Amino acid sequence: MAMSKENTKKTICLQGTGVTRCFGIGKKKMTAVDHVDFTFHEGEVVSIVGESGSGKTTLSKMVLGLLGKTSGEIYFRGEPLVLKSHSQKKEYWKHIQAIFQDPFSSYNIFTKVDEVLLDCIKMRGGDKQPYEEKKKMMKEACSFVNLEFDELTNKYPFELSGGQMQRLMIARVFLLRPQILIADEPTSMIDACSRSTILDMLLKLRDEIHMTIIFITHDIGLAYYISDTVYIMEHGKFVEFGDAESVLIEPKAAYTKRLINDVPKIHEKWDLSTVDVQ
Ligand SMILES: Nc1ncnc2c1ncn2[C@@H]1O[C@H](COP(=O)(O)OP(=O)(O)OP(=O)(O)O)[C@@H](O)[C@H]1O
Ligand SMILES: [Mg+2]
Repeated sequence: MAMSKENTKKTICLQGTGVTRCFGIGKKKMTAVDHVDFTFHEGEVVSIVGESGSGKTTLSKMVLGLLGKTSGEIYFRGEPLVLKSHSQKKEYWKHIQAIFQDPFSSYNIFTKVDEVLLDCIKMRGGDKQPYEEKKKMMKEACSFVNLEFDELTNKYPFELSGGQMQRLMIARVFLLRPQILIADEPTSMIDACSRSTILDMLLKLRDEIHMTIIFITHDIGLAYYISDTVYIMEHGKFVEFGDAESVLIEPKAAYTKRLINDVPKIHEKWDLSTVDVQ
């Protein structure tokens, strides 16, 4: 990732100041996201790392315009984000897309796979082309994620495996070519081997279309592997952020140090001196 660092940190695509979201009222009131500030650049891979319940999904939903803010401001390409009407949202979603934790929730179960993909072509204004052209685009998107278009075309999303469904989500991103992609634990249903393939696909897509990826995870080791920049989230606040190497190699916040210590140290030699060999 170091390779692209020089030319990726220039143009800001998304910014937030004091972004806050509370839930509940009275004694039950809680602050899920608490005055966070962030700056994401074009083509940058950013990870937001934190334990369960730290507010990562709540923040990503606000950024996507799926959940209102209690206070604060989000700027998209320097302009305050205004998403009051459906058409404003539709326009914004041409530029920002998401891959969610649970791929089953992302599709309408009555929409067949080819319709899912055709919708993406339509969203980008390619509806008028002949079907053969569209089919070529769909095939290309499927082969990008190692899916066989002809096998899937007549299936419904619930007929796919979890892994196939997540790859279909990446095929959608391939067709939609958004400027920003939010990936919320996209590899949760995939075995370790396919997981690295999917991550490589996302990074390849980043290089191809210069997309910003906001990656949401519990896994600080993974964040180090894939990101340019890391934001560490604890109880709704960013306790630390910076380029992945500085944060991981010289963590300042106690919470970051704890997350790093929780990563299994596979690189350390096993200490067998205390093992009782009979
Ligand atoms: N719609 C809601 N109503 C009430 N509380 C909510 C709602 N959504 C989230 N919360 C609360 O806000 C906090 C942050 O939740 P969030 O889903 O953002 O965490 P997360 O960091 O994504 O966790 P995980 O890693 O488990 O996905 C949690 O305490 C959660 O219970
Ligand atoms: Mg979450």
